Amino acid sequence: MLAGVDTNILGDGLKQVQADIDSLFDALLPVPDDTSARLVEAMRYAAIGGGKRVRPLLVVSTASLFGVSRDAALRAGAAIETIHVYSLIHDDLPCMDDDDLRHGKPTLHKVYDEATAVLAGDALHALAFEILADEATSTDPFTRSELILTLGKASGMHGMAGGQMMDMVADEEGVTYDLHTITRLQQLKTGALLAASVEMGAILGKVAPQGRAHLRAYARDIGLAFQIADDLLDAVGDEDKAGKALRKDDEQGKQTFVTLLGIDRARDQARALVDQAVGHLSSYGAEADILRALARFIVERDR
Ligand code: IPE
Ligand code: IPE
Ligand code: MG
Ligand code: MG
Ligand code: MG
Repeated sequence: MLAGVDTNILGDGLKQVQADIDSLFDALLPVPDDTSARLVEAMRYAAIGGGKRVRPLLVVSTASLFGVSRDAALRAGAAIETIHVYSLIHDDLPCMDDDDLRHGKPTLHKVYDEATAVLAGDALHALAFEILADEATSTDPFTRSELILTLGKASGMHGMAGGQMMDMVADEEGVTYDLHTITRLQQLKTGALLAASVEMGAILGKVAPQGRAHLRAYARDIGLAFQIADDLLDAVGDEDKAGKALRKDDEQGKQTFVTLLGIDRARDQARALVDQAVGHLSSYGAEADILRALARFIVERDR
């Protein structure tokens, strides 16, 4: 436990953001009265309820350091979350990790079908950029454009999708990654969107790029720690709490910090990264306590 940090601020912060993101998705995804209803119903099934909403809380908490309105930060957080939700829909497809359970309920392609799951992912992907390009997110066109650029980079070939490709290649026979390559894989597939969450909070706060160095360093460390924690959960977690099938990485030949270092050293590594992340926040006072608590939660979580 971190000395002097009120852990309730994290619990309350997560609960509030979960409720706010659910209502925002509810408002953004009205079911039309025509034949595209199936698509929107599928998007709602995946997007509303269930997720921890760590990325939106990172945006809101970073943005609050700079006095940004909560509504604007929530919209940017919702945009990142739509990318995250789409990435999970596709990640669970039979051609990727082939999973039947997510957030304690059947995966989208199990409830609907694979074509609907692909399309719901596509539509959520597009929705992210619609949200950011809208004046309700920021009245400043430069800010909107920087948000769009940041999320685009974090989602694409040099971000989440690039990391997912490395993850799929790792499953193939005879492919062995060293620590450096696994670090790169994790930074792309998971770290990039978490880093974008912090970056976008700072962009909304109109912090110039050179003023974002400490926050970027914090984000890089928690991004890596987050995926190590996910891989530890896969190895030793409780399926009922996680709400998804576990013990799959080994079976599917995934290459992770856990497969390379073993459980204890991977956990030590994740904790060291969190200490390092918290160290990067030393120039902030109590206003950054929620970011400190969130870093700790990322490695100690059970879901
Ligand atoms: C799970 O992410 C997939 C990874 C990128 C490791 P989260 O653990 O943030 O998923 P939810 O949205 O809270 O279920
Ligand atoms: C998924 O990583 C990362 C994404 C970009 C979606 P995992 O495949 O380990 O995530 P889980 O364990 O299925 O949630
Ligand atoms: Mg995967
Ligand atoms: Mg998976
Ligand atoms: Mg996993």
